[in-house]
Amino acid sequence: MTSSVRPAQLSDLDALVALENSSFSGDRISRRSFKHFLDTEQNQILVIDQPVQAYVLILFRRGTSLARIYSLAVAPQTRGRGLARSLMQAAEVCARQRDALFLRLEVADTNAAAIGLYHSLGFRPIKQLAGYYENGGDALQLEKRLERSTRAKASANFYPQTTEFTCGPAAAIMAMQEIRPSHHYSRIDEINLWREATTVYMTRGHGGCSPHGLALALHQRGFDVRLLQSSSQVALIDSVRGEHKKALVELIHNDHVARLQHAKIPSDVCAINSNVLRQHIEAGYTILLLISTWQLNRNKAPHWVWLSAMDEHFAYLHDPDVDAAEHRSALDNANVPLALEQLNRLLGYGKKSYRAAVLLREQR
Ligand SMILES: CC(C)(COP(=O)(O)OP(=O)(O)OC[C@H]1O[C@@H](n2cnc3c(N)ncnc32)[C@H](O)[C@@H]1OP(=O)(O)O)[C@@H](O)C(=O)NCCC(=O)NCCS
Repeated sequence: MTSSVRPAQLSDLDALVALENSSFSGDRISRRSFKHFLDTEQNQILVIDQPVQAYVLILFRRGTSLARIYSLAVAPQTRGRGLARSLMQAAEVCARQRDALFLRLEVADTNAAAIGLYHSLGFRPIKQLAGYYENGGDALQLEKRLERSTRAKASANFYPQTTEFTCGPAAAIMAMQEIRPSHHYSRIDEINLWREATTVYMTRGHGGCSPHGLALALHQRGFDVRLLQSSSQVALIDSVRGEHKKALVELIHNDHVARLQHAKIPSDVCAINSNVLRQHIEAGYTILLLISTWQLNRNKAPHWVWLSAMDEHFAYLHDPDVDAAEHRSALDNANVPLALEQLNRLLGYGKKSYRAAVLLREQR
């Protein structure tokens, strides 16, 4: 019997399911999910031995520096021989090869064996998660940084968007919550913000929120707001089909611009990149960023995220769009680290690479 680590293949499916069933009593990965993970290049299952005696499943988030250890198990009869340690070390190598800079995982707070292993490998707790498991048990979220960097400030307030078209309001709620921690924001705030900030139309479905609309809606709520755009074009109009719709979007845009001017909200046409954003964060603003989701999921849509923190190496995003189908939870979308050049690649929507950011802080 050898003990070398290798990537899993489809022929390992039966053994993986058997191993899962002998290792966990709840929250098991189904056969269908294992097959999905084996079929998608973005995920990696590493195993030891034939038939499989141990596996680790690593999920990568495209366009970011984040890798997640989704599961780890060793067959009961082969535990205590260093297999889990070998797999975790191989997972780290794999994560580094794919340019991940952070490894995260969740572990039951009662699982002394696994916590001991992760601790000895340099993982440190970043969050306590009450009632995380099917049986109501609590979890710890642990993280290991694969490169030296300054830590993002931990931010508890994650608000997932509850409709396809309210990324802007959801990102705004997270930013507002950061500034006003004692205030409670809820779904009606999400919807009201959208009603105030939407330009009505997009490619299909309901319209998202324009930078101008969001800036006005935040100004209405008493924040000190500033708008940055890479050009003074009508925001997001390129993705609107049909002259009638375009005319309506333009009408709303012009009204927004007039109201921004009337409210004396500063609006700059300027370069928007990690340097510029960092300067504004240092001036005390928190930032809503318009990104293109192309780098994240190969889907060209304009999308709002909250830039929750930044340091000299990384930007950290709270992305309100949680994709349950991709085995994601809010944990994968909070404080998502991006190297600064990755952030710069996310900025810019459409053929003209339109960039926009809405800056807010408490009135001084
Ligand atoms: C947790 C688990 C993966 C460990 O696998 P393993 O192959 O036995 O672990 P290793 O032999 O590589 O041991 C690595 C380290 O884990 C820790 N460890 C392992 N078993 C332990 C135990 N019973 N008590 C305390 N620490 C233990 C030790 O730190 C050990 O290092 P050491 O041998 O230098 O002291 C295995 O017990 C398992 O599959 N459990 C069920 C599934 C599970 O809980 N997965 C983790 C989900 S987050």
